[in-house]
Amino acid sequence: MNYDIKDLSLAEAGKNRIEWAERSMPVLRIIRDRFRKEKPLNGIVLAACLHVTTETAALVQTLAAGGAEVLVCASNPLSTQDDVAAALVSEGYHVYAIKGEDTETYYRHINACLDPGPRITMDDGADLVGTIHAERQHLAENLLGGTEETTTGVIRLKSMAAKGVLLFPVIAVNDSDTKHFFDNRYGTGQSTIDGILRATNRLLAGSIFVVSGYGWCGRGLATRAAGMGARVIVTEVDPLRALEAAMDGYLVMPMAEAVPMADFFCTVTGDRSVIRKEHFEGMKDGAIVCNSGHFNVEIDIESLEKMAVSRRVIRDFVEEFALSDGRRIILLGEGRLINLASAEGHPSSVMDMSFANQALAAEHLVKFGSGLSKQVHRLPLEIDAEIARLKLDSMGIRIDTLTPAQEEYLSSWEMGT
Ligand code: NAI
Repeated sequence: MNYDIKDLSLAEAGKNRIEWAERSMPVLRIIRDRFRKEKPLNGIVLAACLHVTTETAALVQTLAAGGAEVLVCASNPLSTQDDVAAALVSEGYHVYAIKGEDTETYYRHINACLDPGPRITMDDGADLVGTIHAERQHLAENLLGGTEETTTGVIRLKSMAAKGVLLFPVIAVNDSDTKHFFDNRYGTGQSTIDGILRATNRLLAGSIFVVSGYGWCGRGLATRAAGMGARVIVTEVDPLRALEAAMDGYLVMPMAEAVPMADFFCTVTGDRSVIRKEHFEGMKDGAIVCNSGHFNVEIDIESLEKMAVSRRVIRDFVEEFALSDGRRIILLGEGRLINLASAEGHPSSVMDMSFANQALAAEHLVKFGSGLSKQVHRLPLEIDAEIARLKLDSMGIRIDTLTPAQEEYLSSWEMGT
């Protein structure tokens, strides 16, 4: 069987939601129309390990319009939308993804996508690349290269390249400005709040909300939490980012100091054990803890489990851990990215740009992959600028252009005034 999904009868609902998402993805639609005519990915077997969402379906259809044979698996065990997986299978795609799958199934699905020996891998968190390097190195010979969607994946790949162990070139889609400026900031900002609200239905106004990590995602999350009326505290380890948070108007302090005050905690660092035993010990009764960073390592769940005298799931994605002194700590979405666990991930309008980058990165690998070094590359700046231009066009926003005199002025050093 060339698929493994929850329930094929969900396909119709998935198709409707994919159509809805696509309406906010004009840039990807333009690329799809061109791909349909030019077939730049003709005959390319492409393994995609992405969150199986409506937007990913629109990307898969775009890659297929370009001539690729696409296999899809999940990049997180909790992020799959089962109706979308069903819709894709009903359209003939090979999809291996079930929401809530266990670790063994998760890796079996990853391997199913690698079995045909893809020419391109498309990752969100470097799991395809990681599996190839750990267990199936022979597949590297056939690969033109890979693409990587997220910060955590890019960090891992850069570390592999620096150690000289990366077996093929990878394009860091996350490094495109039209990706991380928008997806990480506005996408994660909005959808993380969406996830927290859908899971808890709590009021943010007047609450104290800790954002851990003031990178691209943290900036977006802090802005949106503050916009809902929360008083935001930022924790950081980087002095520059901490300073930026302070000057953006947030309170900045170590986690240990924030702990007794806060009602909500959300980690977006890409780091491990950011919230751990010593922090749980100081939290208020009912404190709500969640994560929107890539892996479920940012919260030390093992410590929380050991500290708890009992635990129960009180609502979907809301688990209460009772401690011996009577306090209750609430963990959302098993510590996995909350925007995808209890909500639907980023809005399509922002994924439009991220996935435009993915589609063009696949085309770039077909054109130039064989000449690229075994390093992590970013897409050419012209592609980034073109995506920004198309997105502005689609939003009906026009901007000024430089006059010849301005161009001369900005490119010369002789003109003093
Ligand atoms: P970034 O590198 O821009 O920011 C991370 C920040 O966390 C840095 O400023 C760093 O100094 C800080 N940090 C690291 N360790 C810390 C600690 N122990 N305590 C406090 N701060 C700490 O990364 P970006 O792009 O913001 O991504 C963050 C994470 O979110 C990554 O894992 C990324 O893959 C993931 N991500 C998740 C998305 C989602 O849909 N939920 C979307 C995009 C990215």
